[in-house]
Amino acid sequence: MTPSTPRGTRVSHIGIAVEALAESLPFFRDVLGLTEVPLDDSDGASIVGLSAGEPLVELLQADDPASPIARFVAKRGPGIHHICFSVDDLDATLDRCRKAGVQLLDEKPRIGAEGKRIAFLHPKSTGGVLVELSDH
Ligand code: CO
Repeated sequence: MTPSTPRGTRVSHIGIAVEALAESLPFFRDVLGLTEVPLDDSDGASIVGLSAGEPLVELLQADDPASPIARFVAKRGPGIHHICFSVDDLDATLDRCRKAGVQLLDEKPRIGAEGKRIAFLHPKSTGGVLVELSDH
């Protein structure tokens, strides 16, 4: 999975929790002019991807009341939910996290909405920001 030429750690996407895609999407797509890109649903949420240069904005609407997005919106209201960084070597990065005492929410990478391997870090270990790591 390691690319031959390292690209360095990059912002991959910013996940924004919304109450309803139908209400939020027109602002991002039609007013700001971001282009929709197809993504899979993930973690009990419907996800709309919007290209914003290389990174995406992902609008996350809970489908399942027990899903992480539903719990986030119920507790804190809609808003920025997480930031995803893509890294050159996800396994090595997770190992560095473990050695540094960073609490992992996913001990092993799993497949995320973009079809790439992802893993989440606990916000307690990252200054209060839910961080997702992914392959490029
Ligand atoms: Co994400």
